[in-house]
Amino acid sequence: MKISITREKLAGLKDWFTDYVHTFKYNDPEIQQNIDLKKEHTMRVCKEILNIGKQLGLNDDELRLAEIIALLHDVGRFEQYARYRTFMDRKSENHAELGIKIIKKSGILNQFDDAVKDLIVRSIQYHNRPSLPTDESESCLFFSKLLRDADKLDIWKVVTDYYLREERKRNGAIELDLPDTSGFSDAVYQDLINKTIVDIKHVKNLNDFKLLQISWIFDINFKPTLNCVKKRRYLEKIRDVLPKSKEINEIFDVIHVSCFSRNI
Ligand SMILES: [Fe+2]
Repeated sequence: MKISITREKLAGLKDWFTDYVHTFKYNDPEIQQNIDLKKEHTMRVCKEILNIGKQLGLNDDELRLAEIIALLHDVGRFEQYARYRTFMDRKSENHAELGIKIIKKSGILNQFDDAVKDLIVRSIQYHNRPSLPTDESESCLFFSKLLRDADKLDIWKVVTDYYLREERKRNGAIELDLPDTSGFSDAVYQDLINKTIVDIKHVKNLNDFKLLQISWIFDINFKPTLNCVKKRRYLEKIRDVLPKSKEINEIFDVIHVSCFSRNI
């Protein structure tokens, strides 16, 4: 697939995004904090996707396409929080689908040919699915994988910064309003031992959610991403805030064997 995206088009989309996010202004600092959190997350995902893309040898047009996908992937989060005051799709609506509605309504992608437009929309649509569809074009799957890796890298940053924060005030938006009770669910443990992403339906408390974040390692697509996870010690940081138990040790043994010593 031939991709041609000018610098000007990318710059125009960045301006649109900034103006769009500016329309979400709140006097309540807690609400504004969660809007800012998603804006800053988006900015960092743009950096992460470029970082991975460069290491994979993408050309300038492909890098600009990757950046556009990252820039727009969570555009639905602002409206979601404004409407429902939660980032939990289960309790509100699918933020990827909501984002696509906003993008389509705005007409910002009409400047691109249909193939590029379609690729951007589909990559966003797939970014929060448990797994990618198999009947998709190679280029769409490639950019979807890139986005999913970049997104996970930054969510790991957000949650590990949060778990290790000095100030103990809790943020229900990050914790998905889950109770901070002791222990973890057996179904979550089983998912991890079976080297699969934890099923969100199995998540009952904050420890389960931390384990779900650990299980994303089974869905990493590219070696540069895996190297970042190792270098930044994200999984070890989450482990530090989990109970110390035989089961947790077993989970980490599985991860070390199947991910950290595996070549993607
Ligand atoms: Fe995201």
